[in-house]
Amino acid sequence: METELLAKHLGAKIHGIDLSKDLTATEFTDIYQAFLDHLVLVFPDQELDPEQLVNFSNRFGDLEPPHPIFPSHPEDPRISLILNDADHPPENDQWHTDVTWRQSPPLAGILHAKKLPPSGGDTMWCSMYAVYEALPESDKERFRLLNGVHTVATFADSDYQDVTATDLAKAIASNPPVHHPMISTHPETEKPILFVNEGFTTHIAELTEEDSSATLQRLWKLIDHPEFRVRVKWEFNTLVVWDNRCTQHFAMADYHPNSRRLHRISIKGDIPQSTMN
Ligand code: SIN
Repeated sequence: METELLAKHLGAKIHGIDLSKDLTATEFTDIYQAFLDHLVLVFPDQELDPEQLVNFSNRFGDLEPPHPIFPSHPEDPRISLILNDADHPPENDQWHTDVTWRQSPPLAGILHAKKLPPSGGDTMWCSMYAVYEALPESDKERFRLLNGVHTVATFADSDYQDVTATDLAKAIASNPPVHHPMISTHPETEKPILFVNEGFTTHIAELTEEDSSATLQRLWKLIDHPEFRVRVKWEFNTLVVWDNRCTQHFAMADYHPNSRRLHRISIKGDIPQSTMN
């Protein structure tokens, strides 16, 4: 297995491994260590059928239940279809961490590229360790006592044309807003993370509306700095695994009306904790 670094703060391309095979314990330990070290792993040219994709994903942990908004793969509902075409314009072009509207957001996400536009459709990830480190000391102090409020209801503001009002109402009813510490601690590396995201964090629980909105707007600008990110150019059968606890991602929406289809799996995670109080 060879590791090629892709950017300063995160991202590594992994060569010389076939993920469709049963990985040995040593092979998976090396992959998991690379995942903790580089946050986003890009595996080119991985020919995996849905069962093999699930088997590989299971090495990271149990899979999340089917997503309440995205359509599911016909062979396994735990595989979400990220499917865009002329009638379904791309809509993931906002920085977000997946499913932070659950009490226990996913530990990891896995995407497998199955259909790509002739150009465009790249995905960017940013390191929330690096964003935390870039905060002024006064913010680090202040934020460790605060909580972000995260909700699935923000899907109502997006362009997901196929989400019916009933689907959304059901998703909201079964997922009431949750509070997560603004600064969480990675359970394995023990590094601090800024844990709010524009996709799902509506406000900061302890602040006035005005203060919360000004603070979050300032943070959305910081997160968008190019230096914190890696940009992945997909090829057919590229597979990416990312640590969802300490990253955000943004999918470029520059390929409409062309089609793009990715298969996505999320791995169950724990309740984000702050050990800094
Ligand atoms: C996602 O936001 O989980 C999907 C990312 C992508 O479409 O590249």
